[in-house]
Amino acid sequence: MKRVAVAHPNIALAKYWGKRDQGRNVPAVPSLSVTLDGMTTTTAIEEAEADSLAINGVLRTGRPLERAVAMLDTLWREAGRLGQRPRAAVDSHNDFPTAAGLASSASAFAALAVAADALFATQLGRERLSAIARRSSASAGRSLFGGFVELPAGDAFAVDLPAAPVAPASHWDLRLVVAVTTEGEKEVGSTDGMVRTTETSPLYDGWVNAAPAIFARVREAVLARDFDALVGPVEQSALTMHATAFAADPGLVYWNGTTVEVIRAVRKLRAEGLRACFTIDAGPHVKILTPTASEASVREAISRVPGVLRTISARPGEGARLAVEE
Ligand code: DP6
Repeated sequence: MKRVAVAHPNIALAKYWGKRDQGRNVPAVPSLSVTLDGMTTTTAIEEAEADSLAINGVLRTGRPLERAVAMLDTLWREAGRLGQRPRAAVDSHNDFPTAAGLASSASAFAALAVAADALFATQLGRERLSAIARRSSASAGRSLFGGFVELPAGDAFAVDLPAAPVAPASHWDLRLVVAVTTEGEKEVGSTDGMVRTTETSPLYDGWVNAAPAIFARVREAVLARDFDALVGPVEQSALTMHATAFAADPGLVYWNGTTVEVIRAVRKLRAEGLRACFTIDAGPHVKILTPTASEASVREAISRVPGVLRTISARPGEGARLAVEE
């Protein structure tokens, strides 16, 4: 029997960066994201002789396989199943380029949680699957839900920490324009980057102390659909996160020259009266949030910034779900 699930990446407007507990993958700060539409991870799972993982048709071993197996083990244990867990072949495909800097681990683990829950008939429900996905990759906990989604910070004892929906995709007709500034993959992944930041950045405590208030302002602006109120905290969240990472040892510089040029271009557009704000994840691409009415103008202006290779547009989308039952 084969089960297939689909999930989409999400982009954080209030960033998660830093872990309170590494083993249990508990975030040190609250985050709020928007799940995207149009870009999809499709994951098929079926019983097999041994556990295996293929990503975009390529068999993977080492850490990627270990992370997938760890999730399957957790799910089986969480459901209170006795006996040996059935071994599974996992076959996952992304229809979007990894180099676009759209966290593929978020959609990957969200899709895997839903697919495995169906294969094992564990019926854990969305909230528990979110907590399980969060343990594999915290941002994945958010992709279980559609639209605008929050993930609280946890204390060191947090066992079950799921994300929760704040508002559905239909709540606010926004667009997210990704300015792709390089085709290469990032050098230091989010997990390693934030562990290094937590352990070595002298600015880390400042970030952890500031993040809850920034998160609260983002949340309030989202609920009120107030774009002008969203701009300040969204940009502050991204810039404070990056400032903290810059100060790690060795410093984490995820940006390239074009990243800075796009930031300047967004601020210029705003000075000219257009509604737009930026956010940046653990890579050099810039993600620009704008009301649907200004999407075309933003795309055109950003495409003209030297160094921008192309732009990708997305809108708020749905949470992870089962695709096909065979
Ligand atoms: C910059 O969720 O990929 O995208 O929990 O270690 O797997 P792990 O990290 P991950 O980190 C995402 C970091 C970010 C900000 C965000 O999505 O909130």
